[in-house]
Amino acid sequence: MTTQQDSPAEQVQGPVPGAPTPIVQIQGLQKSFGTNKVLDGIDLAIERGKVTVILGPSGTGKSVLLKHIVGLIKPDHGEVAFDGVRVDTLSETQLVQVRKRVGYLFQLGALFDSMTVGENVAFPLVEHTQLDAGERDASVQRVLGLVGLSGYAGKNPVELSGGEQRRIALARAVVLQPSMVLYDEPTTGLDPVRADLINELILALTRKMGITSVVVTHDIASANKVADRMLLMHEGKIICDGKPEQVRDTEDVIVQRFIQGQAKKMDLANIRRAFEKTTAASTIE
Ligand SMILES: Nc1ncnc2c1ncn2[C@@H]1O[C@H](COP(=O)(O)OP(=O)(O)O)[C@@H](O)[C@H]1O
Ligand SMILES: [Mg+2]
Repeated sequence: MTTQQDSPAEQVQGPVPGAPTPIVQIQGLQKSFGTNKVLDGIDLAIERGKVTVILGPSGTGKSVLLKHIVGLIKPDHGEVAFDGVRVDTLSETQLVQVRKRVGYLFQLGALFDSMTVGENVAFPLVEHTQLDAGERDASVQRVLGLVGLSGYAGKNPVELSGGEQRRIALARAVVLQPSMVLYDEPTTGLDPVRADLINELILALTRKMGITSVVVTHDIASANKVADRMLLMHEGKIICDGKPEQVRDTEDVIVQRFIQGQAKKMDLANIRRAFEKTTAASTIE
């Protein structure tokens, strides 16, 4: 495991002879939007067939990091490779080949309201394959079965609950039988029971089908359930990286504050003070 305190030498892991190459390899990734420095030197190798969870508060660049993996955003500095191929230098046409192999469950997993569930799930097949309608239907049925929503193909997205919509978006993300799925906050906005169904699906897709999973979340319960490895991002850097139990045991204040959901004492005190002032003022009146 590495933490902020480790020397850079300890963080560098040389290649292990005979070990499979990581499915994603990111080196020295930096990205700013105007004066907003979002990613500030990310080095990350993602192992195949495992669930890697990226934790971190809102606005730390988690979604921006995922988007670099499929070339939706280009780095200012650094390199991003998927399965040994540099994606940051590929053209849009070449990126299509990468995107066919990577399922992406976008934050809030929006479905197209103007299409049925079946048409939504079939969409990547229409875009990226030569399958005929019958073959597409068979694939759609297969993945709807996987997410436990067989028989939903004819429904409209608006008829579904939030949890069902998320599972349909997941079915769509895996319909091309990707090597890897990127999940951007897959459980956000769902109640704990529905969130747990998504967790179970992430685990089943990884363990039973060998799909590499990268899960961005701030849901600690979900992270604890699915993670083989946890990373914590803070201000554009990875400040902690290891097995879930190692990360949970880290004494680093920032890590613990995040894991235990505690705001800074100073920020809490400021809120209390502001209320005290308001109450005192209204008492005088
Ligand atoms: N396309 C963009 N253009 C400008 N700023 C962006 C863009 N995408 C993200 N940002 C900014 O980058 C920062 C990190 O965003 P994001 O990766 O979405 O955070 P999160 O960790 O919550 O997923 C935010 O300040 C956001 O406003
Ligand atoms: Mg995000």
